[in-house]
Formats: sequence, structure tokens, C-alpha cells
Amino acid sequence: MAVAVRARCVFLGAPGAGKGTQAKKVAEAASIAHISTGDMLRAQVAAGTPLGAEAKSFMDAGKLVPDQVIIAMVQARIAEPDAREAWILDGFPRTLPQAQALDGTLSGASAVSHVIYFDVPESVLVGRLTGRRTCGKCGAIWHVDNHPTKVADVCDNCGGGLVQRSDDRLEAITQRLEQYRTLTAPLLAYYRERGVLREIDANRSPSVVYEELLNLMQ
Ligand code: AP5
Repeated sequence: MAVAVRARCVFLGAPGAGKGTQAKKVAEAASIAHISTGDMLRAQVAAGTPLGAEAKSFMDAGKLVPDQVIIAMVQARIAEPDAREAWILDGFPRTLPQAQALDGTLSGASAVSHVIYFDVPESVLVGRLTGRRTCGKCGAIWHVDNHPTKVADVCDNCGGGLVQRSDDRLEAITQRLEQYRTLTAPLLAYYRERGVLREIDANRSPSVVYEELLNLMQ
């Protein structure tokens, strides 16, 4: 169902908090840009570009890709015509230098209007990540227990094969959660001080989270 959302919105939260699941749904329903830095990097890796080659070793190890690489990539993307009025930034910023660079890029009427923090206990996140499967063709996000496909390993939406992300191994997940705690969690205070932070209990069913999210994004 089409919805009216004209926000310039950052989705903030730990790996597995459900940012991508909800961002895809809201962006499609509201016809606004969904800018996922993780998806952009994975596309670069798949295309075998120099940027992808540089990013892959960081991603597979569960570490953040260097700020200057990510900032340049997002600045170019956000300048594209479909991102002029409204967008969801999913996975960016996740360090203070990235947040400051975003503020420097956007100003006045084009500044970030909402930052939504997806709050999920860490004990829940590991199970969400180890069970995640993604369609290799259309990018739909599934879960072996929480959100299974009708036929195992076949996407309900497009019939594509499901894959497990290379960074959804336990070792990489542990590192990603550590990077989140040390480098990304401080952004909560940064955005709270600027009066744009809103929080959602994202440890509920995806449909309940979606309905509340639409209200928070008004
Ligand atoms: P990225 O792709 O951004 O990964 P992430 O932030 O770790 O987030 P995830 O995609 O793992 O989780 P999500 O919150 O989107 O959860 P999802 O909806 O899929 O980044 C990957 C890597 O790229 C980084 O580690 C880094 O190397 C690099 N990178 C990216 N951006 C960067 C940046 N700005 N700076 C530097 N490096 C960067 O859901 C997870 C699972 O849970 C799914 O199976 C889903 O079906 C299930 N689920 C979702 N919602 C619910 C619910 N409500 N209840 C039950 N299950 C649910």
C-alpha cells in the first residue's frame, strides 16, 4: 500500500536490528530512495571493481570500511536526482567522522530530518544474523525461522536462489557487534543532542515495527 513519507531519514542500529528489512519496505511504499551502503559495497564486490576489492577484506573480517571511501560513495549517491527530496540512509553514517561529513554535505532544508534508532537486545541479534538468507537476484531478505520462504532456498518474490552473506559467520558477527558498540553507538548521543533522534523497540514482529515506523517518520 502506498504511504506518504517525505523524510530525509537515517536508520541507525546494530547489525541485524532490521534496518534493511524495514528500509526496503518503507522506500518501496513511499517511492523514496533507499541508500544502503552495505548493498552498494556488495554490488561493488560482485562487479569486481577496485573499490569492491578494497572493501571486501574489511567486510569479510567484520570491520568498517575506511571513512574516506564510504563518505565519497555516499556523497555521490545522495547527489543523484532520485535523492533530492527524501531518502532513507541505511547503514550510514556509522562513525562520528561520517556523521560530521554528512552534516557538512547537507544543510538547511536538505538536512537529516529523522534518525530512527532500532533497539534490539544483543542476545537476539546473533540468531537473526546467522539465520539470515538473502535473494541473490532481487535482494529480498529472509530468515530460516523468523521469515522463511515457502520453498527452502528459493525466493518467494522472484524465484531467485538464496545466499548467506559472507559476513554472517559467527566470527565476523562478533567483530561487527564490537565495531558497532565502539564506533557507531556514540552516534546516538550525537543525534540526541541535535534533537532528531527517535527510538523504536525493534524486537517485535516486522509488521508491528513497520506501522510504528511510519508514524515516527512523519
Ligand atoms: P551492512 O550491510 O550495512 O550490515 P549491518 O549494518 O551490519 O546490518 P545488517 O544488514 O547486518 O542488518 P539489518 O539491520 O539491515 O538487518 P536485516 O533487516 O537484514 O554492512 C555490511 C558491512 O559493510 C559492514 O560490516 C562494513 O564492513 C561495510 N559498511 C557498510 N556501511 C558502512 C559504513 N557506513 N562505514 C563503513 N563500513 C560500512 O535483518 C536481519 C535478519 O533479521 C533477517 O534475516 C530478517 O529477516 C530478520 N528480521 C528483521 N526484522 C525482524 C523482526 N522484527 N523480527 C524478527 N526477525 C527480523
